[in-house]
Amino acid sequence: MSQQRTPVVVREVRQETGDIKSFFLTGVDGAVLPPFKPGDHIDIELQEGTVRQYSLCNGPLETDAYHISVKKEAASRGGSRILHENVKEGDVLHISPPRTNFPLTTEATRHIFIAGGIGITPILSMLRHLQHENRPCELHYFTRTEPDTPFRGELKASLQSALHTGLDAERTKEQLANILSSRTDGSHLFFCGPAPFMSAIRALASSLGWPEDSVHYEYFSPPDTAATATVDTPFQVYLAKSQCTFDVPAGKTILEVLRAGKIPAESSCERGTCGACVVKVLEGTPEHRDSFLSDFQKKSGKKIALCVSRSQSPLLTIDL
Ligand code: FES
Repeated sequence: MSQQRTPVVVREVRQETGDIKSFFLTGVDGAVLPPFKPGDHIDIELQEGTVRQYSLCNGPLETDAYHISVKKEAASRGGSRILHENVKEGDVLHISPPRTNFPLTTEATRHIFIAGGIGITPILSMLRHLQHENRPCELHYFTRTEPDTPFRGELKASLQSALHTGLDAERTKEQLANILSSRTDGSHLFFCGPAPFMSAIRALASSLGWPEDSVHYEYFSPPDTAATATVDTPFQVYLAKSQCTFDVPAGKTILEVLRAGKIPAESSCERGTCGACVVKVLEGTPEHRDSFLSDFQKKSGKKIALCVSRSQSPLLTIDL
């Protein structure tokens, strides 16, 4: 978890909707912020032990401040509640450099973006970048009501976006099916939103024949796996570079075991959504429990997210 953190000042806090605020973060004493790409996110250390990931909304010309937008979640684990209730202009926060989990594929001949609620944030950055290059893009934005729709002035005025408000689950699926049915050669799909919305789009894209490498997404929260949860089976993990073996008992993750063994391993979300802890699998069969790797990557079994995934085989060899 521990990695380089940079102090930044909260230059501005802006109320976007009833439950969404934007925060603009600048370098301390005018320090230049590291460059970023569309779809990047930063980790923010909110208080001891509370680190959260937030996508940058920035366009390519907004280099003087990182812009994040945060929805105050009723079931907040602390992150959105702290930002909404405690963080004010002038405060200093500590952040990681921008990191890419959700890159914009520029070779697409057609970019189709689908966002649900606060899932607009990484997509807004992508839209702003493409718009800056005068490249056409298509946005479908699903929200509860028009007043609950952040950035609606910009999205309506400057992009040919379709706003879908107040749809129930069935109508949402119908609309998604219409959108995904319009695939043409060279189309790439990018989406982000609540976990059930994401699962619906992934299932539709798969059933409508979208090639895996043309489907791009980022989860903010792990899908609800309660219905499919499996029992933990103990296994061993062998670290090929360090040449040591650890027992991974039920109820402990590989990451926790490595930490206890003083083996340095990268991590960030520790919920299987960000990809920071992903390493190569050299031998054995992973049991994937993350929402970061694509279905294709999971089937190939060549990578594993150490924070949540386990092993189907008694021994798993990883490239650490
Ligand atoms: S730390 Fe984010 S996927 Fe493992």
